[in-house]
Amino acid sequence: MDTSIQLTYLLSAILFVVGLKRLQSPATARKGNGLAALAMLLAVIATVLETQILDWTWILVGVLLGGVIGTAAARLVEMTSMPELVGIFNAFGGGASALVAIAEFLATPGIGASTTGVTILLGTLIGSVTFTGSFIAFAKLQGLMTGNPIIFPFQNAFNALLLLAAVSLGAMTLGVFGSGDSQTLFYMFCGLALILGVLLVIPIGGADMPVVVSLLNSYSGLAASAAGFVIGNTVLIISGALVGASGLILTQLMCKGMNRSLANVAFGGFGGTAGIDRSEIGQRPVQSADAEGVAAELGYVNSVVVVPGYGLAVAQSQHELRKVGDLLEERGVDVKYAIHPVAGRMPGHMNVLLAEADVSYDKLYDLDEINDDFGNTDAVLVVGANDVVNPAARDPQSVITGMPILDVDRARRVIIMKRSLSPGFAGIDNDLFYMDNTLMFFGDAKESMAELVREIRELA
Ligand code: TAP
Repeated sequence: MDTSIQLTYLLSAILFVVGLKRLQSPATARKGNGLAALAMLLAVIATVLETQILDWTWILVGVLLGGVIGTAAARLVEMTSMPELVGIFNAFGGGASALVAIAEFLATPGIGASTTGVTILLGTLIGSVTFTGSFIAFAKLQGLMTGNPIIFPFQNAFNALLLLAAVSLGAMTLGVFGSGDSQTLFYMFCGLALILGVLLVIPIGGADMPVVVSLLNSYSGLAASAAGFVIGNTVLIISGALVGASGLILTQLMCKGMNRSLANVAFGGFGGTAGIDRSEIGQRPVQSADAEGVAAELGYVNSVVVVPGYGLAVAQSQHELRKVGDLLEERGVDVKYAIHPVAGRMPGHMNVLLAEADVSYDKLYDLDEINDDFGNTDAVLVVGANDVVNPAARDPQSVITGMPILDVDRARRVIIMKRSLSPGFAGIDNDLFYMDNTLMFFGDAKESMAELVREIRELA
Protein backbone atom coordinates (compact mmCIF):
# COMPACT_ATOMS: atom_id res chain seq x y z
CA MET A 1 0.00 0.00 0.00
CA ASP A 2 2.73 2.46 1.03
CA THR A 3 4.65 2.00 -2.24
CA SER A 4 1.55 2.52 -4.36
CA ILE A 5 0.71 5.68 -2.38
CA GLN A 6 4.22 7.04 -2.93
CA LEU A 7 4.05 6.14 -6.63
CA THR A 8 0.72 7.98 -6.92
CA TYR A 9 2.34 11.02 -5.27
CA LEU A 10 5.21 10.78 -7.75
CA LEU A 11 2.78 10.55 -10.66
CA SER A 12 0.81 13.57 -9.49
CA ALA A 13 4.04 15.56 -8.98
CA ILE A 14 5.05 14.73 -12.58
CA LEU A 15 1.58 15.74 -13.81
CA PHE A 16 1.87 19.07 -11.93
CA VAL A 17 5.18 19.83 -13.68
CA VAL A 18 3.90 18.78 -17.13
CA GLY A 19 0.70 20.78 -16.53
CA LEU A 20 2.72 23.89 -15.64
CA LYS A 21 4.90 23.43 -18.71
CA ARG A 22 1.80 23.31 -20.91
CA LEU A 23 0.58 26.61 -19.48
CA GLN A 24 3.42 28.25 -21.44
CA SER A 25 1.29 28.52 -24.60
CA PRO A 26 -2.42 29.33 -25.02
CA ALA A 27 -2.63 26.43 -27.48
CA THR A 28 -1.80 23.87 -24.75
CA ALA A 29 -2.89 25.79 -21.62
CA ARG A 30 -6.36 24.23 -21.33
CA LYS A 31 -4.88 20.71 -21.38
CA GLY A 32 -2.21 21.80 -18.91
CA ASN A 33 -4.87 23.00 -16.51
CA GLY A 34 -6.74 19.70 -16.88
CA LEU A 35 -3.56 17.72 -16.13
CA ALA A 36 -2.87 19.77 -13.01
CA ALA A 37 -6.47 19.25 -11.83
CA LEU A 38 -6.09 15.48 -12.38
CA ALA A 39 -2.82 15.59 -10.41
CA MET A 40 -4.62 17.29 -7.52
CA LEU A 41 -7.42 14.71 -7.57
CA LEU A 42 -4.87 11.86 -7.45
CA ALA A 43 -3.00 13.56 -4.61
CA VAL A 44 -6.19 14.03 -2.58
CA ILE A 45 -7.31 10.41 -3.09
CA ALA A 46 -3.85 9.07 -2.16
CA THR A 47 -3.76 11.26 0.98
CA VAL A 48 -7.20 10.14 2.08
CA LEU A 49 -6.21 6.49 1.61
CA GLU A 50 -2.77 6.95 3.19
CA THR A 51 -4.13 8.42 6.40
CA GLN A 52 -6.84 5.74 6.56
CA ILE A 53 -9.58 8.30 7.01
CA LEU A 54 -12.66 6.25 7.67
CA ASP A 55 -15.29 8.93 8.07
CA TRP A 56 -15.94 10.13 4.55
CA THR A 57 -18.85 12.37 5.50
CA TRP A 58 -16.86 15.55 6.09
CA ILE A 59 -14.65 14.89 3.10
CA LEU A 60 -17.71 14.59 0.85
CA VAL A 61 -19.24 17.72 2.36
CA GLY A 62 -15.96 19.56 1.65
CA VAL A 63 -15.75 18.24 -1.92
CA LEU A 64 -19.37 19.21 -2.66
CA LEU A 65 -19.11 22.65 -1.07
CA GLY A 66 -15.79 23.38 -2.78
CA GLY A 67 -17.11 22.08 -6.10
CA VAL A 68 -20.20 24.30 -5.95
CA ILE A 69 -18.20 27.42 -4.96
CA GLY A 70 -15.51 26.70 -7.60
CA THR A 71 -18.04 26.17 -10.40
CA ALA A 72 -19.99 29.29 -9.47
CA ALA A 73 -16.79 31.37 -9.27
CA ALA A 74 -15.54 30.07 -12.64
CA ARG A 75 -18.86 30.90 -14.31
CA LEU A 76 -19.76 34.16 -12.59
CA VAL A 77 -16.51 36.02 -12.03
CA GLU A 78 -15.53 38.31 -14.93
CA MET A 79 -12.06 38.00 -16.48
CA THR A 80 -11.38 41.58 -15.34
CA SER A 81 -11.93 40.52 -11.72
CA MET A 82 -9.42 37.64 -11.83
CA PRO A 83 -6.84 39.39 -9.61
CA GLU A 84 -9.51 39.74 -6.88
CA LEU A 85 -10.47 36.06 -7.21
CA VAL A 86 -6.85 34.93 -7.07
CA GLY A 87 -6.42 37.21 -4.05
CA ILE A 88 -9.22 35.43 -2.19
CA PHE A 89 -7.91 32.01 -3.23
CA ASN A 90 -4.49 32.94 -1.86
CA ALA A 91 -6.07 34.01 1.43
CA PHE A 92 -7.77 30.63 1.83
CA GLY A 93 -4.63 28.74 0.68
CA GLY A 94 -2.46 30.58 3.20
CA GLY A 95 -5.11 30.24 5.93
CA ALA A 96 -5.44 26.48 5.32
CA SER A 97 -1.67 25.96 5.54
CA ALA A 98 -1.51 28.02 8.74
CA LEU A 99 -4.34 25.93 10.25
CA VAL A 100 -2.51 22.67 9.39
CA ALA A 101 0.62 23.99 11.11
CA ILE A 102 -1.38 25.25 14.13
CA ALA A 103 -3.20 21.90 14.47
CA GLU A 104 0.13 20.08 14.35
CA PHE A 105 1.53 22.39 17.07
CA LEU A 106 -1.46 21.70 19.32
CA ALA A 107 -1.18 17.95 18.65
CA THR A 108 2.51 17.86 19.62
CA PRO A 109 2.92 19.35 23.11
CA GLY A 110 6.46 20.27 24.17
CA ILE A 111 7.77 20.13 20.62
CA GLY A 112 10.90 22.20 21.55
CA ALA A 113 13.56 23.60 19.27
CA SER A 114 13.35 20.80 16.69
CA THR A 115 13.28 20.98 12.90
CA THR A 116 9.55 20.18 13.01
CA GLY A 117 9.00 22.95 15.59
CA VAL A 118 10.75 25.52 13.38
CA THR A 119 8.81 24.29 10.32
CA ILE A 120 5.50 24.59 12.19
CA LEU A 121 6.33 28.18 13.11
CA LEU A 122 7.38 28.99 9.54
CA GLY A 123 4.16 27.51 8.14
CA THR A 124 2.10 29.45 10.69
CA LEU A 125 3.95 32.73 10.03
CA ILE A 126 3.88 32.60 6.22
CA GLY A 127 0.32 31.20 6.11
CA SER A 128 -1.04 33.87 8.48
CA VAL A 129 0.74 36.75 6.67
CA THR A 130 -0.68 35.43 3.39
CA PHE A 131 -4.16 35.11 4.92
CA THR A 132 -4.61 38.69 6.16
CA GLY A 133 -2.38 40.25 3.46
CA SER A 134 -4.50 38.66 0.72
CA PHE A 135 -7.72 39.92 2.29
CA ILE A 136 -6.33 43.46 2.29
CA ALA A 137 -5.24 43.04 -1.37
CA PHE A 138 -8.76 41.81 -2.21
CA ALA A 139 -10.38 44.74 -0.36
CA LYS A 140 -8.16 47.24 -2.21
CA LEU A 141 -8.87 45.73 -5.62
CA GLN A 142 -12.59 45.48 -4.93
CA GLY A 143 -12.75 49.10 -3.71
CA LEU A 144 -13.87 48.02 -0.23
CA MET A 145 -11.05 50.17 1.18
CA THR A 146 -8.93 52.99 -0.22
CA GLY A 147 -6.59 51.99 -3.05
CA ASN A 148 -4.13 54.69 -2.00
CA PRO A 149 -1.06 53.71 0.02
CA ILE A 150 -1.69 53.96 3.79
CA ILE A 151 1.53 55.33 5.17
CA PHE A 152 2.68 56.38 8.63
CA PRO A 153 6.08 57.58 9.91
CA PHE A 154 8.81 54.96 10.41
CA GLN A 155 6.49 52.33 8.87
CA ASN A 156 9.22 50.06 7.48
CA ALA A 157 11.18 50.22 10.75
CA PHE A 158 8.00 49.46 12.70
CA ASN A 159 7.24 46.46 10.45
CA ALA A 160 10.82 45.21 10.84
CA LEU A 161 10.46 45.48 14.64
CA LEU A 162 7.19 43.57 14.51
CA LEU A 163 8.84 40.81 12.49
CA LEU A 164 11.67 40.69 15.03
CA ALA A 165 9.12 40.46 17.85
CA ALA A 166 7.35 37.59 16.05
CA VAL A 167 10.63 35.72 15.55
CA SER A 168 11.52 36.23 19.25
CA LEU A 169 8.08 34.99 20.33
CA GLY A 170 8.55 31.97 18.05
CA ALA A 171 11.90 31.22 19.67
CA MET A 172 10.30 31.55 23.13
CA THR A 173 7.49 29.22 22.06
CA LEU A 174 10.07 26.57 21.23
CA GLY A 175 11.71 27.12 24.63
CA VAL A 176 14.93 28.63 23.25
CA PHE A 177 15.02 31.25 26.04
CA GLY A 178 13.96 28.90 28.84
CA SER A 179 10.56 27.48 29.67
CA GLY A 180 7.26 29.40 29.52
CA ASP A 181 3.61 28.80 28.68
CA SER A 182 4.32 27.75 25.09
CA GLN A 183 0.65 27.73 24.09
CA THR A 184 0.04 31.36 25.13
CA LEU A 185 3.30 32.42 23.47
CA PHE A 186 2.25 30.57 20.32
CA TYR A 187 -1.12 32.35 20.18
CA MET A 188 0.65 35.71 20.58
CA PHE A 189 2.97 34.65 17.75
CA CYS A 190 -0.08 33.88 15.53
CA GLY A 191 -1.65 37.26 16.38
CA LEU A 192 1.53 39.15 15.42
CA ALA A 193 1.77 37.21 12.15
CA LEU A 194 -1.83 38.16 11.26
CA ILE A 195 -1.18 41.84 12.05
CA LEU A 196 2.04 41.74 10.00
CA GLY A 197 0.07 40.57 6.93
CA VAL A 198 -2.16 43.66 7.18
CA LEU A 199 0.71 46.08 7.79
CA LEU A 200 2.82 44.74 4.92
CA VAL A 201 0.08 45.28 2.32
CA ILE A 202 -1.60 48.57 3.40
CA PRO A 203 1.32 50.81 2.26
CA ILE A 204 1.10 49.40 -1.27
CA GLY A 205 -1.15 51.28 -3.73
CA GLY A 206 -4.06 49.75 -5.63
CA ALA A 207 -2.18 49.96 -8.94
CA ASP A 208 0.45 47.58 -7.61
CA MET A 209 -2.04 45.08 -6.16
CA PRO A 210 -1.75 42.55 -9.02
CA VAL A 211 1.99 42.32 -8.24
CA VAL A 212 1.21 41.89 -4.55
CA VAL A 213 -1.37 39.19 -5.33
CA SER A 214 1.26 37.33 -7.36
CA LEU A 215 3.77 37.66 -4.50
CA LEU A 216 1.20 36.45 -1.96
CA ASN A 217 0.46 33.56 -4.31
CA SER A 218 4.12 32.64 -4.02
CA TYR A 219 3.89 32.93 -0.20
CA SER A 220 0.83 30.65 -0.14
CA GLY A 221 2.92 28.05 -2.01
CA LEU A 222 5.73 28.35 0.54
CA ALA A 223 3.22 28.01 3.39
CA ALA A 224 1.77 24.86 1.75
CA SER A 225 5.28 23.47 1.31
CA ALA A 226 6.03 24.10 5.00
CA ALA A 227 2.73 22.38 5.91
CA GLY A 228 3.86 19.44 3.73
CA PHE A 229 7.08 19.14 5.76
CA VAL A 230 5.10 19.35 9.01
CA ILE A 231 2.77 16.47 8.15
CA GLY A 232 5.34 14.56 6.07
CA ASN A 233 3.37 14.75 2.81
CA THR A 234 5.72 14.74 -0.21
CA VAL A 235 3.24 15.89 -2.84
CA LEU A 236 2.26 18.90 -0.71
CA ILE A 237 5.93 19.83 -0.40
CA ILE A 238 6.42 19.57 -4.18
CA SER A 239 3.20 21.32 -5.23
CA GLY A 240 3.80 24.09 -2.68
CA ALA A 241 7.34 24.59 -3.97
CA LEU A 242 6.02 24.78 -7.55
CA VAL A 243 3.47 27.45 -6.57
CA GLY A 244 6.14 29.31 -4.58
CA ALA A 245 8.64 29.33 -7.47
CA SER A 246 6.16 30.14 -10.24
CA GLY A 247 4.58 32.93 -8.17
CA LEU A 248 8.00 34.46 -7.65
CA ILE A 249 8.90 34.21 -11.36
CA LEU A 250 5.57 35.86 -12.27
CA THR A 251 6.17 38.63 -9.72
CA GLN A 252 9.58 39.33 -11.25
CA LEU A 253 8.14 39.40 -14.78
CA MET A 254 5.49 41.91 -13.69
CA CYS A 255 8.07 44.12 -11.98
CA LYS A 256 10.23 44.01 -15.12
CA GLY A 257 7.21 44.96 -17.26
CA MET A 258 6.78 48.10 -15.12
CA ASN A 259 10.54 48.70 -14.73
CA ARG A 260 10.21 48.53 -10.94
CA SER A 261 12.15 46.55 -8.39
CA LEU A 262 10.28 44.26 -6.01
CA ALA A 263 11.60 46.38 -3.11
CA ASN A 264 10.15 49.49 -4.75
CA VAL A 265 6.74 47.81 -5.07
CA ALA A 266 6.82 46.47 -1.51
CA PHE A 267 8.21 49.52 0.29
CA GLY A 268 7.81 52.39 -2.22
CA GLY A 269 4.29 53.53 -1.26
CA PHE A 270 3.63 53.86 -5.01
CA GLY A 271 0.56 52.96 -7.02
CA GLY A 272 -1.99 55.41 -5.66
CA THR A 273 -3.31 58.50 -7.39
CA ALA A 274 -3.70 60.69 -4.30
CA GLY A 275 -0.95 63.22 -5.06
CA ILE A 276 -1.62 63.64 -8.78
CA ASP A 277 -3.17 66.88 -10.09
CA ARG A 278 -6.04 65.63 -12.21
CA SER A 279 -7.51 69.06 -13.06
CA GLU A 280 -5.70 69.34 -16.41
CA ILE A 281 -6.26 65.78 -17.60
CA GLY A 282 -8.09 65.62 -20.94
CA GLN A 283 -8.37 69.43 -21.32
CA ARG A 284 -6.41 69.84 -24.57
CA PRO A 285 -8.05 69.61 -28.06
CA VAL A 286 -7.87 66.29 -29.93
CA GLN A 287 -8.72 65.09 -33.45
CA SER A 288 -11.40 62.45 -33.61
CA ALA A 289 -12.96 60.23 -36.26
CA ASP A 290 -16.05 58.04 -36.63
CA ALA A 291 -16.18 54.40 -37.72
CA GLU A 292 -16.35 55.33 -41.39
CA GLY A 293 -13.24 57.49 -41.15
CA VAL A 294 -11.33 54.85 -39.18
CA ALA A 295 -12.29 52.13 -41.70
CA ALA A 296 -10.84 54.30 -44.48
CA GLU A 297 -7.64 54.85 -42.45
CA LEU A 298 -7.15 51.12 -41.91
CA GLY A 299 -8.55 49.58 -45.10
CA TYR A 300 -6.20 51.14 -47.67
CA VAL A 301 -2.79 50.67 -45.99
CA ASN A 302 -0.19 47.92 -46.05
CA SER A 303 0.40 47.35 -42.34
CA VAL A 304 -1.69 47.64 -39.18
CA VAL A 305 -0.55 46.83 -35.64
CA VAL A 306 -3.29 46.33 -33.05
CA VAL A 307 -2.45 47.21 -29.43
CA PRO A 308 -4.97 45.70 -27.01
CA GLY A 309 -5.28 46.91 -23.42
CA TYR A 310 -7.50 46.70 -20.38
CA GLY A 311 -10.45 48.37 -22.20
CA LEU A 312 -10.61 45.39 -24.61
CA ALA A 313 -11.17 43.14 -21.60
CA VAL A 314 -13.77 45.47 -20.06
CA ALA A 315 -15.72 45.74 -23.31
CA GLN A 316 -15.21 42.04 -24.20
CA SER A 317 -14.67 43.12 -27.78
CA GLN A 318 -12.09 40.48 -28.71
CA HIS A 319 -14.43 38.62 -31.10
CA GLU A 320 -15.29 41.81 -33.03
CA LEU A 321 -11.59 42.71 -33.05
CA ARG A 322 -10.79 39.40 -34.72
CA LYS A 323 -13.43 40.11 -37.36
CA VAL A 324 -11.76 43.47 -38.04
CA GLY A 325 -8.37 41.70 -38.32
CA ASP A 326 -9.77 39.08 -40.71
CA LEU A 327 -11.49 41.68 -42.90
CA LEU A 328 -8.32 43.75 -43.14
CA GLU A 329 -6.27 40.69 -44.03
CA GLU A 330 -8.76 39.81 -46.76
CA ARG A 331 -8.00 43.24 -48.17
CA GLY A 332 -4.28 42.42 -48.20
CA VAL A 333 -3.34 44.38 -45.05
CA ASP A 334 -0.59 42.85 -42.89
CA VAL A 335 -2.12 42.69 -39.37
CA LYS A 336 -0.09 42.11 -36.21
CA TYR A 337 -0.94 42.32 -32.51
CA ALA A 338 1.52 43.95 -30.09
CA ILE A 339 1.35 42.58 -26.54
CA HIS A 340 2.75 44.61 -23.65
CA PRO A 341 3.77 42.42 -20.67
CA VAL A 342 1.51 44.31 -18.23
CA ALA A 343 -1.36 45.26 -20.57
CA GLY A 344 -4.62 44.55 -18.75
CA ARG A 345 -4.66 43.55 -15.12
CA MET A 346 -2.78 40.28 -14.98
CA PRO A 347 0.06 38.59 -16.83
CA GLY A 348 -1.07 37.07 -20.11
CA HIS A 349 -4.45 38.88 -19.91
CA MET A 350 -4.36 39.95 -23.58
CA ASN A 351 -3.04 36.59 -24.79
CA VAL A 352 -5.97 34.83 -23.12
CA LEU A 353 -8.54 37.22 -24.62
CA LEU A 354 -7.11 36.96 -28.13
CA ALA A 355 -6.78 33.17 -27.87
CA GLU A 356 -10.45 33.07 -26.82
CA ALA A 357 -11.29 34.82 -30.10
CA ASP A 358 -9.05 32.39 -32.06
CA VAL A 359 -6.54 35.02 -33.12
CA SER A 360 -3.62 32.98 -34.43
CA TYR A 361 -0.82 32.94 -31.85
CA ASP A 362 1.88 33.61 -34.47
CA LYS A 363 0.37 37.06 -35.08
CA LEU A 364 1.07 38.09 -31.48
CA TYR A 365 4.33 39.93 -30.88
CA ASP A 366 5.98 40.80 -27.58
CA LEU A 367 7.17 44.34 -26.88
CA ASP A 368 10.84 43.51 -27.67
CA GLU A 369 9.91 41.83 -30.93
CA ILE A 370 7.76 44.63 -32.34
CA ASN A 371 8.94 47.93 -30.89
CA ASP A 372 11.45 48.63 -33.68
CA ASP A 373 8.74 48.08 -36.33
CA PHE A 374 6.45 50.94 -35.32
CA GLY A 375 8.51 53.47 -37.35
CA ASN A 376 7.61 51.47 -40.50
CA THR A 377 3.97 50.81 -39.59
CA ASP A 378 1.19 52.58 -41.51
CA ALA A 379 -1.44 52.52 -38.78
CA VAL A 380 -1.73 51.44 -35.16
CA LEU A 381 -5.13 50.60 -33.66
CA VAL A 382 -4.99 51.02 -29.88
CA VAL A 383 -7.96 49.27 -28.29
CA GLY A 384 -8.60 50.33 -24.69
CA ALA A 385 -4.88 50.61 -23.89
CA ASN A 386 -3.51 53.70 -22.22
CA ASP A 387 -0.54 53.45 -19.82
CA VAL A 388 1.28 50.87 -21.95
CA VAL A 389 1.44 53.35 -24.86
CA ASN A 390 1.97 56.52 -22.81
CA PRO A 391 5.10 58.41 -24.00
CA ALA A 392 5.27 59.98 -20.51
CA ALA A 393 7.29 56.88 -19.57
CA ARG A 394 10.20 58.55 -21.42
CA ASP A 395 9.93 61.63 -19.15
CA PRO A 396 12.18 61.39 -16.06
CA GLN A 397 9.62 63.46 -14.05
CA SER A 398 6.67 61.15 -14.72
CA VAL A 399 5.35 58.63 -12.17
CA ILE A 400 5.65 55.93 -14.83
CA THR A 401 9.15 56.94 -15.87
CA GLY A 402 11.23 54.04 -17.16
CA MET A 403 8.23 51.77 -17.71
CA PRO A 404 8.83 50.02 -21.05
CA ILE A 405 6.14 51.19 -23.51
CA LEU A 406 5.03 50.23 -27.00
CA ASP A 407 6.40 53.06 -29.20
CA VAL A 408 3.14 53.51 -31.13
CA ASP A 409 3.63 57.28 -31.48
CA ARG A 410 6.32 56.48 -34.08
CA ALA A 411 3.76 54.98 -36.50
CA ARG A 412 2.41 57.10 -39.39
CA ARG A 413 -1.14 57.03 -37.99
CA VAL A 414 -2.39 56.18 -34.49
CA ILE A 415 -6.08 55.43 -33.86
CA ILE A 416 -7.18 55.15 -30.25
CA MET A 417 -10.44 53.45 -29.27
CA LYS A 418 -11.68 54.43 -25.82
CA ARG A 419 -14.70 56.12 -24.32
CA SER A 420 -13.17 59.41 -23.19
CA LEU A 421 -9.87 61.13 -22.43
CA SER A 422 -9.84 59.57 -18.95
CA PRO A 423 -6.52 58.30 -17.67
CA GLY A 424 -5.55 54.63 -17.35
CA PHE A 425 -4.51 52.72 -14.25
CA ALA A 426 -1.59 55.03 -13.41
CA GLY A 427 -4.01 58.01 -13.26
CA ILE A 428 -2.02 60.34 -15.53
CA ASP A 429 -2.72 62.17 -18.81
CA ASN A 430 -1.46 60.71 -22.09
CA ASP A 431 0.28 63.02 -24.61
CA LEU A 432 -0.38 60.45 -27.32
CA PHE A 433 -4.03 61.59 -27.51
CA TYR A 434 -3.00 65.11 -28.57
CA MET A 435 -0.39 64.30 -31.22
CA ASP A 436 -0.80 65.33 -34.88
CA ASN A 437 -0.79 61.74 -36.14
CA THR A 438 -3.43 60.57 -33.61
CA LEU A 439 -7.17 60.12 -34.18
CA MET A 440 -9.45 59.41 -31.24
CA PHE A 441 -12.27 56.94 -31.98
CA PHE A 442 -14.54 57.51 -28.99
CA GLY A 443 -17.00 54.91 -27.68
CA ASP A 444 -17.30 51.57 -25.97
CA ALA A 445 -14.79 49.25 -27.69
CA LYS A 446 -17.41 46.58 -28.41
CA GLU A 447 -19.89 48.92 -30.06
CA SER A 448 -17.17 50.84 -31.92
CA MET A 449 -15.61 47.61 -33.13
CA ALA A 450 -18.97 46.32 -34.43
CA GLU A 451 -19.47 49.60 -36.33
CA LEU A 452 -15.95 49.29 -37.71
CA VAL A 453 -16.69 45.78 -38.99
CA ARG A 454 -19.72 47.15 -40.88
CA GLU A 455 -17.77 50.07 -42.32
CA ILE A 456 -14.80 47.96 -43.48
CA ARG A 457 -17.25 45.66 -45.29
CA GLU A 458 -18.62 48.73 -47.07
CA LEU A 459 -15.19 49.78 -48.38
CA ALA A 460 -14.56 49.47 -52.11
P1 TAP B 1 -4.96 51.21 -18.70
O1 TAP B 1 -3.79 52.11 -18.72
O2 TAP B 1 -5.56 50.86 -17.40
O3 TAP B 1 -6.07 51.90 -19.64
C1 TAP B 1 -7.21 51.22 -20.02
C2 TAP B 1 -8.10 52.17 -20.81
O4 TAP B 1 -9.22 51.40 -21.26
C3 TAP B 1 -8.66 53.31 -19.98
O5 TAP B 1 -7.97 54.49 -20.22
C4 TAP B 1 -10.16 53.37 -20.39
O6 TAP B 1 -10.42 54.64 -20.97
C5 TAP B 1 -10.28 52.31 -21.47
N1 TAP B 1 -11.53 51.57 -21.36
C6 TAP B 1 -12.12 51.07 -20.25
N2 TAP B 1 -13.28 50.49 -20.56
C7 TAP B 1 -13.44 50.62 -21.90
C8 TAP B 1 -14.45 50.23 -22.80
N3 TAP B 1 -15.55 49.59 -22.41
N4 TAP B 1 -14.27 50.51 -24.12
C9 TAP B 1 -13.18 51.17 -24.53
N5 TAP B 1 -12.20 51.57 -23.71
C10 TAP B 1 -12.32 51.30 -22.41
O7 TAP B 1 -4.68 49.84 -19.46
P2 TAP B 1 -3.34 49.28 -20.12
O8 TAP B 1 -2.82 50.23 -21.16
O9 TAP B 1 -3.69 47.90 -20.54
O10 TAP B 1 -2.29 49.27 -18.95
C11 TAP B 1 -2.36 48.38 -17.84
C12 TAP B 1 -2.07 49.11 -16.54
O11 TAP B 1 -2.29 48.20 -15.45
C13 TAP B 1 -0.65 49.58 -16.44
O12 TAP B 1 -0.58 50.78 -15.73
C14 TAP B 1 0.01 48.48 -15.64
O13 TAP B 1 1.19 48.88 -14.95
C15 TAP B 1 -1.11 48.14 -14.67
N6 TAP B 1 -0.86 46.81 -14.10
C16 TAP B 1 -0.95 45.74 -14.90
C17 TAP B 1 -0.60 44.51 -14.39
C18 TAP B 1 -0.60 43.32 -15.29
S1 TAP B 1 0.23 42.05 -14.84
N7 TAP B 1 -1.25 43.33 -16.42
C19 TAP B 1 -0.20 44.38 -13.07
C20 TAP B 1 -0.15 45.53 -12.26
C21 TAP B 1 -0.49 46.75 -12.81
P3 TAP B 1 -11.92 55.24 -20.95
O14 TAP B 1 -12.38 55.22 -19.55
O15 TAP B 1 -11.78 56.60 -21.53
O16 TAP B 1 -12.74 54.35 -21.86
